[in-house]
Amino acid sequence: MIATRNDSILQQLSPFVVTTRANRAILDEAPFGLATRWFVDPHMTRWATFFDLLQRLDALTFGPEGMPMDKWVFYNCAELPGFIYGFALEADALSASERDLMGVPAGWSGPVPFSMYIAIPMHEPGSWFGHNLCSLNRTFPQRGFDGLGTITKAIALAAFKVERFYGATQWLSKALHIHTRFGPLDLYTAYTPAHSMAETLTYGFEVTTEKLRYAAGDPAATMRYPEPDITLDARDVPAMQDLQRRIEAGERFVLAGAPSTRGVQVVHPITTVAAGA
Ligand SMILES: CC(C)(COP(=O)(O)OP(=O)(O)OC[C@H]1O[C@@H](n2cnc3c(N)ncnc32)[C@H](O)[C@@H]1OP(=O)(O)O)[C@@H](O)C(=O)NCCC(=O)NCCS
Repeated sequence: MIATRNDSILQQLSPFVVTTRANRAILDEAPFGLATRWFVDPHMTRWATFFDLLQRLDALTFGPEGMPMDKWVFYNCAELPGFIYGFALEADALSASERDLMGVPAGWSGPVPFSMYIAIPMHEPGSWFGHNLCSLNRTFPQRGFDGLGTITKAIALAAFKVERFYGATQWLSKALHIHTRFGPLDLYTAYTPAHSMAETLTYGFEVTTEKLRYAAGDPAATMRYPEPDITLDARDVPAMQDLQRRIEAGERFVLAGAPSTRGVQVVHPITTVAAGA
């Protein structure tokens, strides 16, 4: 079993996976020895409430950021091509206020999701694109689920058997505290007009068991980050554009750790790993 920074999460919550019968064949159903408790088939109407609850989870967490997902996005971009992995609790184990906030209908005694991770398989074999991560840790602080977001992503990448990971997020996203726990991240874009929010970075890394264990908080796992030689202010668009010009000219950079916050300023450590051609 994997050791984590907060093992009470694995004691209280159980894993679920949304998967079609066809995709289930490639899933690791017990990543790090952690057996999946609920298999949710997107083709079965008996899971209708669960899909509503997943959407509620997304709206509660992403809503304030202005990027909540429509149901068809779940279906077309996650449940059919890939998987949704997460942690859930039986409805009966929720308090009245938790049931209320999550919109659990009377009569539902199935799982209620507390976190989810979505990745989409890419054309390159073994490569997956991270599509969504959310966690109710900060919505229900009394539960003491610190680490839920990071642990969910780490175990999901093992369940999906991801070899090469790609992700895209905004320079101001709090989730960069999570993504940078998986080690130094190769930077593919620093300014991305193809995305709805151009202040988006695209990053990637080779997945190893050691990185997943480190991210989950296993004290036996270690990680080395290179010394940064650039600091990028998360609101400095001209600096993002300059970095992007250098990437397009052939220079290579890695994101070398979590952002640091000084007042309202958010600063990212970046390391140059190869000069341009
Ligand atoms: C971002 C989110 C997934 C974090 O979930 P979580 O369960 O609280 O995450 P973790 O406890 O694993 O947090 C890991 C680190 O991120 C930091 N962090 C997470 N959310 C933070 C926030 N809002 N403000 C400051 N730091 C934050 C934690 O302090 C922790 O840092 P540490 O490892 O140094 O202690 C969750 O708040 C969420 O669903 N947000 C909305 C959706 C979103 O932004 N998703 C990511 C899109 S790429």
